[in-house]
Amino acid sequence: MEYWHNRWDKEQTGWHRDEFNDLLEKYWPAINPAKDGEVLVPLCGKSLDMLWLAEQGYDVVGLEMVEQAVQTFFEENKLETIADETGKHIKHSSPPFTIFHGDIFDLEAGVVQADAWYDRAAMVALPNSVREQYVKQIYNQTKAGAVGLLITFAYPQEQMEGPPFALHDEDVLRFFSDGFEVECLEKIDIDDEKDRGLSKVTSTVFKITKT
Ligand SMILES: C[S@@+](CC[C@H](N)C(=O)[O-])C[C@H]1O[C@@H](n2cnc3c(N)ncnc32)[C@H](O)[C@@H]1O
Repeated sequence: MEYWHNRWDKEQTGWHRDEFNDLLEKYWPAINPAKDGEVLVPLCGKSLDMLWLAEQGYDVVGLEMVEQAVQTFFEENKLETIADETGKHIKHSSPPFTIFHGDIFDLEAGVVQADAWYDRAAMVALPNSVREQYVKQIYNQTKAGAVGLLITFAYPQEQMEGPPFALHDEDVLRFFSDGFEVECLEKIDIDDEKDRGLSKVTSTVFKITKT
C-alpha cells in the first residue's frame, strides 16, 4: 500500500483534525460501552479522537499500517511506548493506548477482543473490493454484543477518484447484513466539500451492533 506511505512521507494528511470529532462527542453516549472496556480504532492514523476515548475511561486499540503515523501519535502526545512483535504486527503499548503497526488484513482473528469500535475515515479510506474483508476483521476483533460508531462519506463515485471512496447507506446495510444490526443516527448534507467538484455530498452516522 504505497499510497498511504507516500501520503505520510509527504505529510499530505489532510484528513487529520486538530480537534476532537464533534460527531464522536455527540453520538458516543448512544454507543456507551462499559467504561473499563476496550475500543478498537481501525486505520487510526494519529487521530486525536483516541485521546478523547481514553479520557472517557476506555482502553484504546488502534490499527495502523504506516510506522510514521504510529510514531507521530506517541511522540506528539509525549507518550513512552514498549514495542513487542505479535505475528506480522509490532504492538506499541503505552497504557491506555495500544497501536498495532501493520496491515489490518494481516491481524489474526481474536488478537483484539474489543467491546466497541470507532470508524471515522477508515472504511471510506478503503475501496469496495476490500470492504467485505474489512467488516470481517471488525467482526473478528470484537466481542459478541460489541457496538460501533461509523461515520460515512458519500458522493457520486464517478465525480472523484478515491480515497475517500464513496460509502453509501445501502452499501453499509449490505456489508453489515450478516452478524450485525445497523441503525442510522443522523444523515448530514455536507456543503463545504462541493468545491472539490462534487455535486452532492452526505455523511451518515451509524450505530452498528455485533449480534
Ligand atoms: C484517511 S486516514 C484516517 C486516519 C484516522 N482514522 C483519522 O480519522 O484521522 C486512513 C489511515 O489508514 C491507514 N491505512 C490504510 N490502509 C490500511 C491498512 N490496510 N491497514 C492499516 N492501516 C491502513 C493509513 O495509513 C491512514 O493513516
